[in-house]
Amino acid sequence: MSAITCIDDLKRLYKRRVPKMFYDYAETGSWTEQTFRENTSDFDKIYFRQRVAVDMTNRTTAGQMIGQDVAMPVALAPVGLTGMQHADGEILAARAAKKFGVPFTLSTLSICSIEDVAKATKAPFWFQVYTLKDDDFMERLMGRARDAGCSAVVITLDLQVQGQRHKDLKNGLSAPPKLTPASIANMATKVGWGLKMLQTRRRTFGNVVGHAKGVTDPSSLSSWTAEAFDHALDWNRVAELMKMWGGKVILKGIMDTEDARRAADLGADAIVVSNHGGRQLDGALSSIRALPAIVDAVGDRIEVMFDSGIRTGQDILKARALGASGVMIGRSWVYGLGAMGQAGVTKSLEILHKELDTTMALCGHRDLREVGRDILLVPEDFEGRWQRN
Ligand code: GLV
Repeated sequence: MSAITCIDDLKRLYKRRVPKMFYDYAETGSWTEQTFRENTSDFDKIYFRQRVAVDMTNRTTAGQMIGQDVAMPVALAPVGLTGMQHADGEILAARAAKKFGVPFTLSTLSICSIEDVAKATKAPFWFQVYTLKDDDFMERLMGRARDAGCSAVVITLDLQVQGQRHKDLKNGLSAPPKLTPASIANMATKVGWGLKMLQTRRRTFGNVVGHAKGVTDPSSLSSWTAEAFDHALDWNRVAELMKMWGGKVILKGIMDTEDARRAADLGADAIVVSNHGGRQLDGALSSIRALPAIVDAVGDRIEVMFDSGIRTGQDILKARALGASGVMIGRSWVYGLGAMGQAGVTKSLEILHKELDTTMALCGHRDLREVGRDILLVPEDFEGRWQRN
């Protein structure tokens, strides 16, 4: 491929280099994928106001996320099975994030364990928590994150039960991949991926296998989410988990103003407006349409971050201008990782940063912290006018 100039270029390379089962895992939404599609297409409905003859020297995208200095307010979102997209993927992504000056979030469903990432990066990272029924496991998980020096936990609230993703069922998704004629035939074409995988010992869920009880097939994400996840998770349990952690907490998966208020009442440090990249409730609004109302409801009480659908720096600027204090990206960095390992994650951050910085300048701003809704042209009916029950 010639020069890599955008996230889509990385995605094309990624598709070529990584086994179909793992590409499909990332590049899917639940059921009809309506929400997955609209997460990105709804960004296109918002336009920028072009401004001219404004001094564009000394620009900065720097800021803070939950009190931490960042080169741009963009955190790497937790993504399950990242170490299957590229050998030792979580370690590589955490290193790229550290070098760039943005937070990395490790998923509970990672392949590299909390300890692996802490040892390899020596940088505080955020740790994402799924709530399992096994209380001892949760205590130990929080303790392990504390020992590893994690600077925040991100509690995911929108996956007590897993949204169905047809491709994962059809592919028989597992880590390590089950050997079937179809998976062997496909993996045989991904030589670079396979050689690197043979050189690592990390090929299953590092935070869970050997740590959690009540999991009959630890290689199957869908079977153990069904068996082990705490379906009873409620706001009292969220409060308990926050207490169990005792440090900074980000609550992820908020799409409704009432839930945003509950999260703010609990005293969380931030929420993430997210529909899990369209992987959970198909038919939910896109995250970008849900964002403005949530900012209006709680933006003065709690940091409101944004996730789901970001594929360009322009998307980041739109979310920021609509009131998000910062954003999380998922697929955008996974494409880079699958395409080119650590250098690919760095490349995706560089691409997003350049697009963000240039767009901000052309909208007449030099400091991302000063950007507001006035740089945008948002259709009057963008948020939707819904019947009240
Ligand atoms: C896990 O978070 C997933 O969406 O698969």
